[in-house]
Amino acid sequence: MKKIRVAIDGPAGAGKSSISKCAAKKFGMIYVDTGAMYRACAVYAIENGIEITDEAITPHLDEIEIDMSYSPDGQRIMLNGKDVTTRIREEDATIGSSKIAVIPSVRLKLVEMQRTIAQNNAVIMDGRDIGTHVLPDAELKIFLTASVAERAKRRYIEMLEKGMKCEISKVIEDIEFRDKNDSEREFAPLKQAEDAILIDTSDMSFEEVCEKICDLIKEVI
Ligand code: DC
Repeated sequence: MKKIRVAIDGPAGAGKSSISKCAAKKFGMIYVDTGAMYRACAVYAIENGIEITDEAITPHLDEIEIDMSYSPDGQRIMLNGKDVTTRIREEDATIGSSKIAVIPSVRLKLVEMQRTIAQNNAVIMDGRDIGTHVLPDAELKIFLTASVAERAKRRYIEMLEKGMKCEISKVIEDIEFRDKNDSEREFAPLKQAEDAILIDTSDMSFEEVCEKICDLIKEVI
């Protein structure tokens, strides 16, 4: 298979990861969840009592080793040899990841890792800056979005299904905080690439979105 690169960007809760996973499986590509890398860095900071600021984090960057492994069941993420696949989804890691993603040295480190993965594999990579910054030459760029209400509703249901306790108002607050933080940061903010295809999934089912994206991938394969 050609080393196709598909970039899927968009705000939190737009459905990027489930859609990317589904399409990657269908085409035998590797799904790279770049948000998980920012989350793992946040977990390192939290668990080592390091404040999430540029000055405090940058001297510790060399201590952070992230490994991703891929299987048909999904991606597992290791932080310094420890499996943090579940830990990175907790509330403090979610908020921490958005804060840590503002720090340029963290982004430089992770973007380098992401580009190396894409050089060696056919990938579907999701994030905020994949089409604009990480893989500006990607064969296909998609910007996936949905209204705040719809994204919050989906995330809320997903959390309940995983047995996590939450309130819808808290989920809305979290999404609004991250939208603002992710879009307003100076370095590689969340932004639609000029050549990305915009898909608003507010009124689409998961199957409809997946089919549309798979059709777009078929055109570039
Ligand atoms: O996709 P996610 O919700 O797991 O991402 C967690 C945080 O990481 C999100 O608030 C923004 C940040 N992020 C980023 O800045 N750039 C990326 N390519 C991926 C995620």
